[in-house]
Amino acid sequence: MKLFRLRTVADLKRNYILSSSRLKVTTWLILGLLVCILLTVIANIRAPDLIKIPLFILAGFVIYKFHRQLKYFRYNLDYYLIIRESLLYVLHTNHLYTTYKDSSGYEKISRSAILQYELDKQKGHILIKALITGDEFSKKVQSLDDVLAGVLELELDEKIIRPSFVEYHFYYKKPNRLVLQSRNQKQEIDNLDIDLGYGVNYNPVKCPHILVAGGTGSGKSVFISFLILEFLKRQSTVYIADPKNSDLGSLAYYLGDKYVATTPNNIARIVRLVVEEMQERYQYMRDNFQYGTNFADHEINPVFLVFDEIGAFQASGTDKKSKEIIVEVMDGIKQIILLGRQAGIFILVSAQQMRAETLNTDLRDNLGLRIALGANSSEGYRMVFGSATPDNLKPIEVKGAGYLYMQGSGRENAQYWESPYLDTKQFNFISELQLYLEETN
Ligand SMILES: Nc1ncnc2c1ncn2[C@@H]1O[C@H](COP(=O)(O)OP(=O)(O)O)[C@@H](O)[C@H]1O
Ligand SMILES: [Mg+2]
Repeated sequence: MKLFRLRTVADLKRNYILSSSRLKVTTWLILGLLVCILLTVIANIRAPDLIKIPLFILAGFVIYKFHRQLKYFRYNLDYYLIIRESLLYVLHTNHLYTTYKDSSGYEKISRSAILQYELDKQKGHILIKALITGDEFSKKVQSLDDVLAGVLELELDEKIIRPSFVEYHFYYKKPNRLVLQSRNQKQEIDNLDIDLGYGVNYNPVKCPHILVAGGTGSGKSVFISFLILEFLKRQSTVYIADPKNSDLGSLAYYLGDKYVATTPNNIARIVRLVVEEMQERYQYMRDNFQYGTNFADHEINPVFLVFDEIGAFQASGTDKKSKEIIVEVMDGIKQIILLGRQAGIFILVSAQQMRAETLNTDLRDNLGLRIALGANSSEGYRMVFGSATPDNLKPIEVKGAGYLYMQGSGRENAQYWESPYLDTKQFNFISELQLYLEETN
């Protein structure tokens, strides 16, 4: 018994439709035959030329359509063939089968491991499922990571072990990083879906609250600035707390002191404002009670509290008075995390390190979108993602790259992600911001 591996998936990565010679010849033969038949049929019709000409044109159109169909058919066939052949190769070379000799001495396969595959061409996603049936292959099929990655020539994106099968996820299309572009024109967007690039679409209602972790220079402020613009485009009110009084704090000049705070007292004031707004909204929704409604049904706009460098804020408490302020602020943050969603009040927290003293793990798990930017220790990742920390973490080499976990995204683990790319020559955050402030000033 021999299994040949005819093609590799490297071609999938190039997004190149393979021209398997066998299929190509058949395609041309079928097309050629079709052309001949149609031409002779039309030429032999007893009719004036005036009628024959449009018939020729029609025939041309039919052939063209048919050709497209054939091409599509071939394209589908090729993708599946490649995966199928790769999996057969894996079964064969890893001896994931048992054989017996039949009465005439031929070796035949009695049993083999079972691999299934699914393909999503739009996402460029290949899912390989290895069934765990309790036979002698059950152990082996749980560790096909390297073998499958090798045969498909793709990096393993995610592996999920379920009770009766193992899922191996691969992507052959590299998702695109978003590049920030100046619009020079105000945009108004009436839904809360925010494209974060790299195939990630974030909606705060489906997945409330955000955590951005990462060391100094990892790109937290750049990403948060991008989000602030996206919030403003969606008619949101944005409050900013920047206890280190750096990039975001300087926005006070544009957004006003009412919305931007850098000192502990001012930070406490805006957190109080946001919590009060939340309570009022709950009261309003209670008064106008409709089961299962949320803020959007009441035509209330979202509020975002952006809290940069929360660790620095907590570390600032030295005397009794300032410690009291910290306790009050942290209490407000907890309320927003636990109750904000229904009222359309959301919080974004950034921290260099996500220690349990910063936010305990229960609260952390209530932050629907969690991002770790830049290089982090595996301990650091664990503090952000908990059990959703991937086993194999790639080194982070690109500015603004990291790992992202979004609740309800269908993924079990955090995924590699690159935040929207900022080219300061192309994109001026302040002038974009000003587009959204005209009315208030
Ligand atoms: N998404 C990005 N695109 C391009 N450059 C980035 C990006 N994120 C970070 N950088 C670069 O890294 C520098 C530090 O980023 P910053 O957001 O200030 O880090 P942090 O707030 O985590 O300390 C930026 O000034 C910029 O030059
Ligand atoms: Mg910063």
